[in-house]
Amino acid sequence: MNKLLLNGILMALFAIIIASCQYKFIVEPIPPPPPPGDTTSFSLDIVPIFAEQNCTGCHPSSANLDLTADKAYNSITSLELVVAEDPSASKIYYYPLPDGNHFAKYTTAQSILIQYWIDEGAKNN
Ligand code: HEC
Repeated sequence: MNKLLLNGILMALFAIIIASCQYKFIVEPIPPPPPPGDTTSFSLDIVPIFAEQNCTGCHPSSANLDLTADKAYNSITSLELVVAEDPSASKIYYYPLPDGNHFAKYTTAQSILIQYWIDEGAKNN
């Protein structure tokens, strides 16, 4: 009888331990693959990221790399931080990646948008 009780208690403890091992995954919304054609807009999709991540706090109008809405495109292209159709060669893509070391980073979803924009030719659209 005692052994049964002990077994019961052990089973209950085991169940509690297992139940407490909950993992919390932070699932970011990942945009679906882009439909064919130009779909990612620099002004509508990319520029807002620079404000959302406060890139403009350190890259304001007075800076060499100016990520404010009106100047971002000219600044990125004149500093050669983007290579059309080649995100892996584009510093504006790989420098602030989520697993990188830059002061501010893109979320995964944002990095995918930037990747799409570059894949689609990095246009000032
Ligand atoms: C806390 C300040 C700070 C924030 C926030 C910040 N940066 Fe920077 N960034 C710097 C500094 C300082 C440098 C130059 C030194 C270096 O390369 O790390 C730099 C360099 C860069 C470069 C390389 C420029 C070049 O000419 O080689 C890129 C690209 C860049 N930042 C993009 C971003 C983006 C995009 C964001 C937002 C996701 C961002 N940064 C947020 C401070 C910041």
